[in-house]
Amino acid sequence: MNHIQKVALTKDLTLFEPLFERISNDIIEKGFSICPYALPESLTTLLAKHIIDMPQTNFKRAGIGRSTDHVINNFIRTDEICWITGNSDAGSAWIEWTSELQHYLNRRLFLGLFSFESHFSHYAKGDFYKKHKDAFKGEGNRVLSVVVYLNQEWSPDDGGELVLYPDKKARSSLIDNRNISITPSFGTIVVFLSEEFPHEVLPAMRDRYAIAGWFRLNSSIANNIDPPR
Ligand code: OGA
Ligand code: MN
Repeated sequence: MNHIQKVALTKDLTLFEPLFERISNDIIEKGFSICPYALPESLTTLLAKHIIDMPQTNFKRAGIGRSTDHVINNFIRTDEICWITGNSDAGSAWIEWTSELQHYLNRRLFLGLFSFESHFSHYAKGDFYKKHKDAFKGEGNRVLSVVVYLNQEWSPDDGGELVLYPDKKARSSLIDNRNISITPSFGTIVVFLSEEFPHEVLPAMRDRYAIAGWFRLNSSIANNIDPPR
């Protein structure tokens, strides 16, 4: 990445404020936010290029469950993932952007978000992730899930939609609590309360690239340092 791009991505953070405000207002109102084509284009392009150029061997079959009971289960999910670090320009620009979002949400919503973890995901043709929750009440410390999509020209025939299932008990105030289907198009950002929204990824008909991440509370205790990998 050249110097000018770096400055554009990192120095003009006030540019993101309207988006961050929209996300926090949506979270307050509905518990989720869907913002089509909202991730800064330069960042989306950088991430998309990075994920496509990455050696296929960096991706590992995704499992389910926490470290000790981590299992690979072909029935639940079939995608491959690669955890994001700050070791690449794309990774560090992404981490910087999410950290701005984290600070904004902490100021506006008092969520006490403490850390962030995220991975690239690759769904090949036919891959899916069945209905699941990212966190369970009282157990995990994942508070907010963030997903962004890196796919150019996704058409309705390509499948791979993310479906959110609003929890009718948790949000009786939702006027419209039908399932919400989201096309994984380039730059679309989805944010939702991890404990409140079961969700699934329908089978993709072509390669589908995304990032999934989680803001967490700090719940490290004595011998159980979070987050586990
Ligand atoms: C996940 C997940 C959603 C998506 O990785 O936990 O739900 O649309 N991803 O990729
Ligand atoms: Mn999920």
